[in-house]
Amino acid sequence: MNRRDFITTVAVSGGSAYAAMKALGLLEKPATAQSPSQRGSFRLQSNGRGKRVIILGAGLAGMACAYELGKVGYDCIILEARSRAGGRCWTLRGGDQFTDTLGQTQTVQFDSGLYFNPGPARIPQEHVTLDYCREFGVAVEVKENLNRREYYYNTQNAGSLSGKKVRAREAITDIRGYISELLAKAVNQNAINAPLTTQDKEKLVEFLRTYGDLSPDLFYKGSSRRGFTNYPSAGLQPGTQLDPYDLSALIQLGFANYEAEEWDWQQQMTMLQPVGGIDQIAKAFERKVGNRITYQSQVKEIRKTPNGVSIVYTNSSGTNQQIKGDYCICTIPLPVLKGIPSDFSPDLKQAIDNVATLYARAGKGGLQFRRRFWEEDEKIFGGITWTDQDIVQIWYPSEGYLSNKGIMIGYYQFDDTKVGPLSPSQRLSLALEQGNNIHPQYRNEFENGVTLYWPTIPYNLGAWAEYTDEARQRYYPRLNEPDGNIYLCGEHLSYLQGWMAGALESARLVSSKINTLA
Ligand code: ALA
Repeated sequence: MNRRDFITTVAVSGGSAYAAMKALGLLEKPATAQSPSQRGSFRLQSNGRGKRVIILGAGLAGMACAYELGKVGYDCIILEARSRAGGRCWTLRGGDQFTDTLGQTQTVQFDSGLYFNPGPARIPQEHVTLDYCREFGVAVEVKENLNRREYYYNTQNAGSLSGKKVRAREAITDIRGYISELLAKAVNQNAINAPLTTQDKEKLVEFLRTYGDLSPDLFYKGSSRRGFTNYPSAGLQPGTQLDPYDLSALIQLGFANYEAEEWDWQQQMTMLQPVGGIDQIAKAFERKVGNRITYQSQVKEIRKTPNGVSIVYTNSSGTNQQIKGDYCICTIPLPVLKGIPSDFSPDLKQAIDNVATLYARAGKGGLQFRRRFWEEDEKIFGGITWTDQDIVQIWYPSEGYLSNKGIMIGYYQFDDTKVGPLSPSQRLSLALEQGNNIHPQYRNEFENGVTLYWPTIPYNLGAWAEYTDEARQRYYPRLNEPDGNIYLCGEHLSYLQGWMAGALESARLVSSKINTLA
């Protein structure tokens, strides 16, 4: 069909190019997030015939676009401000150096073979991320996201368990037991207002007896599920079990949020991690599209042209360059994008400016210890200890079990306004001081560490987009619409924000949208 016929058809269809294209069967169905069983291998349908796509950012979103569009004949050029690819999909190892926006430089001191993922660090089973790992041959291993031997350690208004290391399995078993006891009694006293038959009630009580490990008379009196202080062994050693905590003490401890965190559909085991560091995923993409990346290229202007786009950037020697293309895919995080001159339409600018203020203020610290005391002394292999101290979480490594040294994530805050703004050495001191309350071995075993705060990481200025319901309603739809031939892409253009899968699903969607027009 020539241009003239197309215009005639558009007129016949009431002027809507979209309706006309649909009527003519010119639109392929844009990619939508599919369930893992439907997903199979993704491939765009039409050929790009050398159309040039300028991609801003060589994070996972940008590289995935270049990979998928490149497969079907697009000429993709990626401009990347850093001298490395991967964006937040980043792993720190000994010798690495980085400087934050306050000019604070850290050089990582880890021993060879040890690493820390300061950004993404876990992959849910059904995320598209694993499809790319399979496609690229990136080896993955289990990332223990919960471990019933991990601790809950609260210090503020935490009642009689304040400042006590409570094992997750003790708290969880006890609270399940008490709730089962209370409910079983309520059912037997006809004190619940639910449409249940007598047989339903009998079955419910029977269920609660097993669920809570209740005695025949429906009391929770403790359970081997909470573990032993001396475990059952040979000969005359049946094991020593401690009494359960009081219900009131558990309520006061206020650990419910910690347990509930594990119930989030994306935090449930099995979770996975690439062997050797999260950046194995970025490196795999880079192997495919690295020849399309121009490093140390900072975007200075994003402009629309009558038929395409024009981008001004500074190259590695600091000189301004201009590049033109048919399309632009902009994966630049919104807090950074908001400061780049562009001729985006006012409604898009407004959406960018507003969502830019909503980025998560997450921070993390990686600590090297000379001895894996959590494994040797405390028999903890992977998992996460939770605390109401500023450090919030301690992650035990899911790699290198039984080896000599290891890197713990000494703190992980999601909305951090206290630790992150400190200097790197103050952050480290705080992580050590608070971690030491839980593991006194810190004092002797700590060797070195590195900390970071995503709001002060150049070219990110935030951890991930954290939409409010209002922002999702008011601004998100606009961010998803192209402006001329410019498309925004990244985890912030997904409902999987803060996940690598968000970036990858967004890349597939945007690539499909562009491909429908080719
Ligand atoms: N997806 C991020 C995490 O798992 C936020 O911590």
